[in-house]
Amino acid sequence: MYSNKENLKEIISEEKILSRVKEIAYDISNKFLDEPPIFISILKGSVIFVADLIREMNIDCEIDFIQVSSYSGASSKESIDFIKDISININERDVIIVEDIIDTGLTINFIKEKLLELNPRSISIATLLMKPEIANIDFEIDWVGFEIAPEFVVGYGLDFNQKFRNLRGIYILGGNESE
Ligand code: IMP
Ligand code: MG
Repeated sequence: MYSNKENLKEIISEEKILSRVKEIAYDISNKFLDEPPIFISILKGSVIFVADLIREMNIDCEIDFIQVSSYSGASSKESIDFIKDISININERDVIIVEDIIDTGLTINFIKEKLLELNPRSISIATLLMKPEIANIDFEIDWVGFEIAPEFVVGYGLDFNQKFRNLRGIYILGGNESE
């Protein structure tokens, strides 16, 4: 049994997610026909997204992981801690950062800056979700799966206190309380 399952309200179905992931993969595949890009998945939230994304790609690609800590519980921390660095050389390579959600934008700003220091040929960003009303970023996000309202969501990799990552859709937590 899921704890709190009664408080979950689905806002994006598995079906919708998977068809959007296919579109994004198709688009990325067509953009990197010459040399395989490196997907850098931000742990832990984007593992499900990156797993589905790379399996829809029809070009060669590589994958690596990076981990920072930015959230504990449902409130954003001001600063970011670096927990795990990438382990492959991205010098002169095309990098695609894969994120689960851009909320305040703090994490993606930090990671993009860090990776730029390693002299990649290009950096682009694919995020499954984005909260445009609160995201504070001064660059384009290349691929956004879905824009959502500034509510806390779980599922498809996204957690609340490490739970609910295994849900197949995206859910608002506490969604029934406001109804
Ligand atoms: P940001 O630095 O504020 O953009 O937050 C980004 C990180 O916080 C994401 O990588 C998520 O791991 C986490 N996060 C932000 N919003 C949510 C949410 O609604 N549900 C679950 N995790 C979230
Ligand atoms: Mg994340």
